[in-house]
Amino acid sequence: MSDKKVLIAPSILSADFNKLGAEIDAVTKAGADWLHLDVMDGHFVPNISFGIPILDSIAKNAKIPIDCHLMITNPEQFVEKFAAAGADIITVHAEASFHIERLLTQIRSLGKKAGVSFNPHTDVEMLKHVMHAVDLVLIMSVNPGFGGQKFIESSLAKIARVKEIAREHGRDIHIQVDGGITRENKDAVIKAGADVIVAGSSVFSKADYAAAISGLR
Ligand code: DX5
Ligand code: ZN
Repeated sequence: MSDKKVLIAPSILSADFNKLGAEIDAVTKAGADWLHLDVMDGHFVPNISFGIPILDSIAKNAKIPIDCHLMITNPEQFVEKFAAAGADIITVHAEASFHIERLLTQIRSLGKKAGVSFNPHTDVEMLKHVMHAVDLVLIMSVNPGFGGQKFIESSLAKIARVKEIAREHGRDIHIQVDGGITRENKDAVIKAGADVIVAGSSVFSKADYAAAISGLR
């Protein structure tokens, strides 16, 4: 069980892009803690979403922290640009970097919180070697690329293992889970140790964002 307040980070991937500013204002008013931006490059994942110009524009008006999930190859080429555009948290994929410790350290040196994410097939044991450089661990509970997919149950054991590794290293980090989170499975992910819940379709597909967000806590 997480000992922290559970934070909800709506993924704007599921928002109506035709009125993105209004959607962001609405989830912010509805109690969202962070805004989750899913950046996809068509190489690391089989989809393309949005990038730096959109972040730049969102950041000018954001009232809550912006959490950038970079599903891109060569993240080291871009973290500086995401930091400058207004990201507060920058999460890169363990699978996408040859020198993850260096990259996480670079993100922190830019004054941002550094996150590392793991696809469903990727083991988390390497965290033992980089825990000192990590502020957040993101466990993907779907194969990244699309909103609205089904939660993969084996993610629960991974969340619990991350919690254990953090404890062993005396580190108080955020454990975030992303993909297929609903009212039905949120208790299980919180019980396993997650304290930040990313939710796309289970917020933006609902008429009442405040009820959707409070229902996920
Ligand atoms: C998947 C993204 C997720 C996704 C979550 O590649 O990283 O953030 O948009 O959407 P739902 O909650 O609909 O699974
Ligand atoms: Zn995401």
